[in-house]
Amino acid sequence: MKGLILSGGKGTRMRPITHTAAKQLLPVANKPILFYAVEAIKEAGIKEIGIIISPETGQDVRDIVGNGERWDLHIEYIVQDEPRGLAHAVKTARPFLGDSTFVMYLGDNLIKDGVKPLVDRFNAGNADSLILLKEVANPSSFGVAQLNGNGRILCLEEKPANPKSNLALVGVYLFNKNIHTAIDEIKPSRRGELEITDAIQRLIDTKFHVESHTLSNWWLDTGKKDDMLEANRVVLDEMSEFVMQGTLEGNTLISGRVRVGEGSVLRNCTVRGPAVIGNNCILEDSYVGPFTAIGDGARVSQAEIEHSILRENCQIKNFNGRIVDSLIGVNVELMRSQHKPVAYKFMLGDDSKVEVV
Ligand code: TTP
Repeated sequence: MKGLILSGGKGTRMRPITHTAAKQLLPVANKPILFYAVEAIKEAGIKEIGIIISPETGQDVRDIVGNGERWDLHIEYIVQDEPRGLAHAVKTARPFLGDSTFVMYLGDNLIKDGVKPLVDRFNAGNADSLILLKEVANPSSFGVAQLNGNGRILCLEEKPANPKSNLALVGVYLFNKNIHTAIDEIKPSRRGELEITDAIQRLIDTKFHVESHTLSNWWLDTGKKDDMLEANRVVLDEMSEFVMQGTLEGNTLISGRVRVGEGSVLRNCTVRGPAVIGNNCILEDSYVGPFTAIGDGARVSQAEIEHSILRENCQIKNFNGRIVDSLIGVNVELMRSQHKPVAYKFMLGDDSKVEVV
């Protein structure tokens, strides 16, 4: 079996951050989302992974993920010239996939249980496809499945106005080679994309066997800022270890599960976990609250930060205010000239400069 991770796309819902960065490389608890996908596939015993990339952000993905050596895997890159749908991505990957069975994983998704239980079930059974479902409160925003009594899929609908169930398709799918014929037989949808739901429906219509597995644990799709913050919250909440590789100076207090990386200095700070602070950061006279991740090389002084992601090399200088529910890009400089304690919510793209006066 092979792995296929989709890391192309446009990421329009995450602008301005995605003007300069692939959304799949955004960090959750200081680790790129894409790494969670690679690790989940490795854990399922798969050794060969193809990653779909876009011409715009593909080089960054290659540079950061590499050839798979660090995980003892073989990783290949497949350029999709335009994001013309999930089924189009599979079509583009056909030379890599050959006739192999494969697990397709959307590179901006996180799944608590990983994919091993699914892969094991698919390998042990005789289904042509196995798809992952999750009960959701707002099925109209998703691909929705209708099942018969024993988990077999009867039909799928993409974002239906009147959903027949509350079971949404989660971003992991298992297929054998029959999916390629189904993809060849479908036409682009009204939004101009080759939809994977249409291809799976085609499998069902042509009497192939499509099974489902309904997740009971969390699944997160990080398409928007608040989804990223939620993913960061959930992953930090599950972090169990306390790791202190930095230096604590002055009156610094740390409580709860906190990770501080090498070369970082915390001077007169209070940190309440769960939180992570990367390598070579300098934090002074500041408060870091729960569910915060601060990237490598950050400089923070006189600020309060909570439930936020700060990317690498951010500078928050003499801020004298509170930053909450924020996603702040690489190299952002944020400063403030008045002493008025208030709270701010930001989504700032890479290299932004903001002065609050
Ligand atoms: P989406 O989140 O549906 O699409 P997107 O990334 O373009 O985002 P937006 O809707 O905000 O513009 O895609 C799910 C995943 O699949 C994501 O990791 C990107 C990837 N993808 C591809 O690799 N190729 C494609 O043609 C599409 C549509 C998505």
